[in-house]
Amino acid sequence: MSDLESTENPITPEAVGTAEDAALAAIAGAADGAELKQVRAAHLGESSPLATLNAQMRAVPKDRKKEAGQLIGGARGRVNQAYAAREAEIAAAEEAARLEAERVDVTAAAKRERPGARHPLTMLRDRVSEIFVGMGWEIADGPELESEWFNFDSLNFDADHPARAMQDTFFVEPVDRHLIMRTHTSPVQMRSLLERGVPLYVLAPGRTYRTDELDATHTPVFMQFEGIAIDRHLSMAHLRGTLEHFARAMFGPEARIRLRNNYFPFTEPSAEMDIWHPLAKGGPRWIEWGGCGMVHPNVLKAAGVDPEEYRGFAFGMGIERTLMFRNELTDMHDIVEGDVRFSEQFGMVI
Ligand code: PHE
Repeated sequence: MSDLESTENPITPEAVGTAEDAALAAIAGAADGAELKQVRAAHLGESSPLATLNAQMRAVPKDRKKEAGQLIGGARGRVNQAYAAREAEIAAAEEAARLEAERVDVTAAAKRERPGARHPLTMLRDRVSEIFVGMGWEIADGPELESEWFNFDSLNFDADHPARAMQDTFFVEPVDRHLIMRTHTSPVQMRSLLERGVPLYVLAPGRTYRTDELDATHTPVFMQFEGIAIDRHLSMAHLRGTLEHFARAMFGPEARIRLRNNYFPFTEPSAEMDIWHPLAKGGPRWIEWGGCGMVHPNVLKAAGVDPEEYRGFAFGMGIERTLMFRNELTDMHDIVEGDVRFSEQFGMVI
């Protein structure tokens, strides 16, 4: 080796060693891809110390060129290898960091958004529907914008019968089209008779409209559920039994039904129905719940059903009213205002 240390020969083991050590240290110290790129320019490129040394090969005496070449070649080989190894290491670390950053913890608890709660009226409507579906009844629907014929005429209301005025109707312009906002769900009785025929067991919950001012106990837009059952041998006893079963399903085995004489054009006889509410907060008591009766023969005839062969009963109750006495609510505003804090108390937070 001492021969290579001669002054004419710049490619000494020391010079090569220093350049190699500097390159290896710089490679090891590169923290990321960008730094490594700079190291490449400084220590592996055209103007790196090793390249500069190599360029001086011309000054090396002929007989030592081979040795000097091996010296530089060995150093360059090791530097290139170290570079490649560090490059792979950094690429792997960067990939791991990227995966870590994009990691999704599938076991993490979902972030709880609170967009709302199911409205208690909707829940009550569904509960009532379930009870009747449980008895084999079908759920039916009808339009809220209804023809006067379905809402009144087909239900045996005379053209100028006071009963027509009894329900404060929203008439819809132009009035000669005879469209109204339905004042009750009873038009679904006729629609079901016409569409489904007999025998018929149908429950029709839905929205209804009357020109009432909103106050503690009234709202111009409210909901009812209508029931109609038509078959060959139905009597008032079946009406009573059905309502009593329904009352017990809703209010417990102590609940009872009481019928009081009343008038509706579309039922005969007609009755007002009270429920004995055993769980009422102020103690058990009778509460007015809705109207009912045996479907009037004229209604059956209007639907093309022979009243000598088929008979049945119908009933209708208000859902808001039911919710109010079931949950001891005193102000209709709470039901219609849609404040989620009201709905949340009923336990169906979405
Ligand atoms: N539609 C009647 C009302 O809104 C209630 C009712 C329904 C009465 C069915 C008898 C039979 O007051």
